[in-house]
Amino acid sequence: MQTANPLAVSPDNAVVWHRDRLYLLDQRTLPEHAVFLPFDSVAATAGAITDMVVRGAPAIGITAAYGVVLAARDAYARKGAGWRGALEQDLALLTAARPTAVNLSWAIERMQHALDALGGGDPVPDLLQEAQGIHAEDRAANHTLGEFGAALIRGPTDVITHCNAGALATGGYGTALGVIRSAYAAGRIGRVYVDETRPWLQGSRLTAWELAHSGIPVTVQTDGAAASLMAAGGIGWVIVGADRIAANGDLANKIGTYSLAVLARYHRVEFMVAAPTSTLDMRIERGADIPIEERDPDEILSYGDRQLAPPGVDARNPVFDVTPASLVDYIVTERGVVERPTPDKLRVLMDQDAAA
Ligand code: MRU
Repeated sequence: MQTANPLAVSPDNAVVWHRDRLYLLDQRTLPEHAVFLPFDSVAATAGAITDMVVRGAPAIGITAAYGVVLAARDAYARKGAGWRGALEQDLALLTAARPTAVNLSWAIERMQHALDALGGGDPVPDLLQEAQGIHAEDRAANHTLGEFGAALIRGPTDVITHCNAGALATGGYGTALGVIRSAYAAGRIGRVYVDETRPWLQGSRLTAWELAHSGIPVTVQTDGAAASLMAAGGIGWVIVGADRIAANGDLANKIGTYSLAVLARYHRVEFMVAAPTSTLDMRIERGADIPIEERDPDEILSYGDRQLAPPGVDARNPVFDVTPASLVDYIVTERGVVERPTPDKLRVLMDQDAAA
């Protein structure tokens, strides 16, 4: 939600276009420091996506859309009528900023269509309108899917979520946290258990910050604590977001999501994936084909100045994993709910009119 002060610190205000600049709430320093960083160039915007200033699948798509506006503004200022030719490299730079979340290339493709439809003259007003449209649509989609997801929860029950699929990760309200907010408001959720989500701690730093900000009871736990919590009873649902959902319903999400899905099935806990349709990639048949980002091993071998493992030790740092569709009870989107996803059910969902 855009507040009276455009740069007011709030989880719902993580990506802001204000006075011809893009501002991102720096998610690397939350919750200790809440600072907006300004961006004026496409290169810096792509760097902010790679370096996790902004993260979360829809939020990086929205940021990239504003990045296209910055790229076009710069090209038009430098090249005048020949500005379009200068843009190809910039779009490739943005697309390559992170590989797993399809929302990034989805948003850039949408901006490309807007570019193709432009007449002569200054491209910025039309492109900005498109980027702001992508931003507003995502926020609206989250409110809609939040209600759809909440309606599935009979409750009252406690739930587990993983990583951050909240307002910070989206255009506002959140996907998994959108469902949780709507269900909590309806009295169907008592407490949210948040996996801390190594190594970037999106759960303890970001999701706990968002939920505390909204007055929703929250307990942070280590990633390994979910099994014993489910075994103890009282957890009705695992609710997570997604970075990319393949045409057969397999999905990539933050590393550790797959283990949660296995645990949920074993303990008869229901497993819900909440995502806008911009996260569905019908061009990718199955999860094994989703590109999985590997980040610097040092992200897990050290923390700040502190070395956490002996020098010379190897580490692997895949930051997403793939949960097979067979472990998913529901995929909840703004177009509707798919129970026990199959390729046919997802095709029907995607073929229906977005406005229907
Ligand atoms: O590495 P991140 O922080 O970008 O990973 C984010 C996630 O895995 C989220 O769960 C996903 O993007 C869904 S956000 C609505």
